[in-house]
Amino acid sequence: MKAHALPAARFPATPALLRQNSRHFHSPKFLTLSSLTSPPTTTHLKSEIDANKMEFPDKQMFILGMGYVGQLFAQQLKNEGWDVAGTCTSVAKKKVLEQKGFDILVFDAMEPEWKVLDRLRCCTHLLVSVPPTVDIGDPILQRAETFKASLADGNLRWLCYLSTTSIYGDASGAWVDENYFPKPSNNLAKMRLESEEGWLKLGQDLGLSTYVFRLGGIYGPGRSAIDTILKKEELSERQKRRANRNFTSRVHVADICQVLKASISTQIQRKIYNVVDDDPASRIEVFAFAQQLIQQRWPGLIDVSDNSIISKLPGGAGKRVSNAHVKKDLGVQLLYPSYRSGLQSIIHNMEKPILRCG
Ligand SMILES: NC(=O)c1ccc[n+]([C@@H]2O[C@H](COP(=O)([O-])OP(=O)(O)OC[C@H]3O[C@@H](n4cnc5c(N)ncnc54)[C@H](OP(=O)(O)O)[C@@H]3O)[C@@H](O)[C@H]2O)c1
Repeated sequence: MKAHALPAARFPATPALLRQNSRHFHSPKFLTLSSLTSPPTTTHLKSEIDANKMEFPDKQMFILGMGYVGQLFAQQLKNEGWDVAGTCTSVAKKKVLEQKGFDILVFDAMEPEWKVLDRLRCCTHLLVSVPPTVDIGDPILQRAETFKASLADGNLRWLCYLSTTSIYGDASGAWVDENYFPKPSNNLAKMRLESEEGWLKLGQDLGLSTYVFRLGGIYGPGRSAIDTILKKEELSERQKRRANRNFTSRVHVADICQVLKASISTQIQRKIYNVVDDDPASRIEVFAFAQQLIQQRWPGLIDVSDNSIISKLPGGAGKRVSNAHVKKDLGVQLLYPSYRSGLQSIIHNMEKPILRCG
């Protein structure tokens, strides 16, 4: 039977039915006949949405950790007709996110209320963006069996864990791809590597398509070298050290979302991908370019002689992270292949800021 020939579901969708249907539906949402013939009321629209959710159950995303990446990804999916739910750790943030139109649950993995995750059972896709902590490791995997129980008899089929290129450690400026043997140089990076292994195993145990994306430094609107300069944010000593590395990798948030979507719609063999741009560069270079852009756009707005981001401490050579596999296997063409085009687009879309004194 063709997908569009099926009647709208008018009965409770069991997990088994959802699973069965999800193998058939890969088309965008269709409007049911009644939505075309009757004036849309709120109740009417809601029941149409619910019916469509049951009719096209293959686009149900759950985002564990609606942080910077999670929010942009959620927005893009919503615009494409997905049903998206996500978590944050506080009621205050839940309110803010709900005002932006997101469907939010409060879940803190340090004090987990597993009932909150019941919603996960009817989701088809799960993005995990919760980072590990130094003392504890991955707060969710600490209770992997309980978490797995939250998914039992569910409809999940895709799981993606957001990791970081810091697991590679310093490679003396060499190019590293996903086959490079990780040499994490601090506890957090070690924990991250353990998290990757844990999530891959969990996904495998559940028979899901499971991916780990190792992200470079994430930047985008509201979070970039331009914002740091304009907000006069003080960098930590660790950030200053990193600023001194010859090479660090970064990626624009829009490109992360692009890669995530490609991994949903493409059959790929590899489990782990680097997600970075084409242009590894030192942070000093990036900040100098950001300063230049600000100076061109709003001459005199900032003190161009300010070099407070530069530390006297050595930063190491760093590494040049390769994105060859993600481009080849997922067919991704980066929107922002260099920090240059990324920062240009950010400043282009910025209002003139009002700077703090001092
Ligand atoms: N920043 C970078 O340059 C960079 C580079 C590579 C990889 N990464 C990693 O990539 C992922 C996505 O990055 P991002 O910048 O979007 O991260 P982010 O903005 O910091 O978001 C992290 C999310 O995880 C949630 N979270 C933190 N601790 C939690 C806990 N104990 N229980 C439940 N949820 C918890 C946060 O909750 P709240 O919303 O309540 O805060 C937030 O929603 C993160 O894992 C990040 O560490 C970041």
